[in-house]
Amino acid sequence: MRITRNQANKYVINIKGLEEISEKSVNPFSTIVIGGHPGAGKTILSTTICKDNMDLGHKCLYVSLQEEKNRFFRTLEGIGIKLVHYEKSGLFKFIKLPITLDINVFMDTLNKLILDYSPNIIVIDSITPIIECVDGDAAKRAIIQNFLYNISQLINGLVILLAELPVGEEELRLGNIEFVADVLLLLKYKLERGLMIRELEIKKARGAPIRVAQIPFTITEEGFRTFYITPPQKIKGSVKRKYYFSISFLRKYFEYIKGPENILVTCNPDSRSTFSILVVLDLLVTNNLKGLIVTYRYSPDEGRDLIKSVLQYIGLNENDAEKVIDKHMHIVSINPSGMSMPELFAYETMLIEETKPNLVMYHGVEIFNSIIDQQIYFRWLLNQVFSLKEKGLVSARYTNYVDDIFYRKNASFSDLIVRGLLTKECGTESFESPGRCYYLFKRGKKPVYIPESVALSDENLKDLRDAMIRSVQK
Ligand SMILES: Nc1ncnc2c1ncn2[C@@H]1O[C@H](COP(=O)(O)OP(=O)(O)OP(=O)(O)O)[C@@H](O)[C@H]1O
Ligand SMILES: [Mg+2]
Repeated sequence: MRITRNQANKYVINIKGLEEISEKSVNPFSTIVIGGHPGAGKTILSTTICKDNMDLGHKCLYVSLQEEKNRFFRTLEGIGIKLVHYEKSGLFKFIKLPITLDINVFMDTLNKLILDYSPNIIVIDSITPIIECVDGDAAKRAIIQNFLYNISQLINGLVILLAELPVGEEELRLGNIEFVADVLLLLKYKLERGLMIRELEIKKARGAPIRVAQIPFTITEEGFRTFYITPPQKIKGSVKRKYYFSISFLRKYFEYIKGPENILVTCNPDSRSTFSILVVLDLLVTNNLKGLIVTYRYSPDEGRDLIKSVLQYIGLNENDAEKVIDKHMHIVSINPSGMSMPELFAYETMLIEETKPNLVMYHGVEIFNSIIDQQIYFRWLLNQVFSLKEKGLVSARYTNYVDDIFYRKNASFSDLIVRGLLTKECGTESFESPGRCYYLFKRGKKPVYIPESVALSDENLKDLRDAMIRSVQK
C-alpha cells in the first residue's frame, strides 16, 4: 500500500472515545506512552494503533524486549490482526532485542534499524527495563529526555512507548515520562462482581480537551474495543413531540407524554398484572412508534410470548398480535450480571444507535437493586436518563416494587408513574379483600387511583384494541 499525499503526515488512533486525541494530539513527532498493569492490553493496543496506521501506508517497527516473534504474531492473529500480511508488504517489522543493560548499545542498535528500515512508527515494548536499569532519578530523566523522547525527531513520525505498571499501583514511576509524553494512556483492570473490568485512563493529551478520563474497554477475538459514552454535561431535551394514549383512563389522566419524558411502571412482585404492560404497548401502537424493549428477566422468546398473551387478552387474534409485535417492537435480552455497568450502558447506547427507536422500555429493572451498589447504579441511570432526554426519546422503566427506597429513588426522576398496588382501599373505593389498584401520577397533577375492574374493563380498553387492529390492517 502506498502513502497518498494527504495521508503522508497523518497519524491516527481509531478508537472510539479517542477521536479528539487522535485529531489534536497525534502528529508526526508525537510520543504516545501507554502504561499498564501486566496483561492489561498494552501490546494489543499499541499494535492496534500500528495496524490502523499501516492501513494508511505507514511503516511500523515493533521493538520487543520480552516477546518472541511467533508468540507475538499468534496473539495478534487471535484478535484479528494478521501481521504476516503487513510484514510481507514491507509495512511491518518485528525485532526482539535482548534486555541490554547499556542504553548506548540499545540506542545504537535502534539507530541502525531506523537507517535500514526508515519506519514511520516505532513501538518499544517496553521501556521499563531500559529505564529501571539505571540508578537515580536524574539518570532516568536523562534517558527519557535525551534518548526516548528524541526518537520521534529521528524518524519524523510517531513513537509509542510501553511502560509496565506493577499490580496494585496506579501511577507510573518512571522519571519524568509524564512530562515528555504528548499522550499518556494507562490501561488498568479491577474486579467488579467477579467480572474483570478493563479501563483505559487518559492521563494526558497535549492540545486536546479531556472530558471523559476513564473509558472501559474489552479485548475479544475482534480486537480492542472501548465502551464509550459521553455523559451529557448539561440537561438538554426540547419537546419534540407529544404522544397520546388510547386506553381511556390513561388518556383522561395523563393526556400525553412528551418526547423526552420517562415513565415508571411498577408492580408488587407478587401481584404483577396485564394492565401495566399495556401502558407501553398503548404508546407504541397509538403513536405508530418503534420500541426497543430491553428485558433483564426474560429471553426474547419469553418476552414475546408475554406480550402476545397480553395482546390476546385484550381481544386480538394470534396473527394480529404477532403483527403488532413485529411492527412496533424490537426485543433484546440482557443479563446485567454478566456485564459491568459501564459495559451495560455502552451496550444499550449502541443498541439505541443501531435500532433507532422512538421509545425504549427497560423491563426487570429491580435486578439492579440486588446486584450493584445503589449509588453506582443511580449515577449511571441518571446519565442514561439524560442522554435519552437529549435524544428526545420516551423511556419506560418497568420494575417490581422490591423496596421503598429503590422505588422512591426511581420515582424521583420519573415524569409519569403507574404503580400497581394490592390493597383494600383504592382511592374512594374499598374492597373486602385486597385487590389490585393502580396509582397514576403525572408531574404537576394530583395523583389518582383506579381499581383493576375499571382498568381492565372493556370500556377502558376498547379504543386501544381498535387502534391495534387498525395498526395491523393498514
Ligand atoms: N484472542 C483473545 N481473545 C480475548 N482476549 C484476549 C485475546 N488475546 C489476548 N487477550 C487478552 O489480552 C490480554 C493481554 O493483552 P496484552 O498482551 O496486550 O497485555 P499487555 O499489557 O501487553 O501484557 P504484558 O504486561 O504481559 O506485556 C490478556 O490478558 C488476554 O486476556
Ligand atoms: Mg505486552
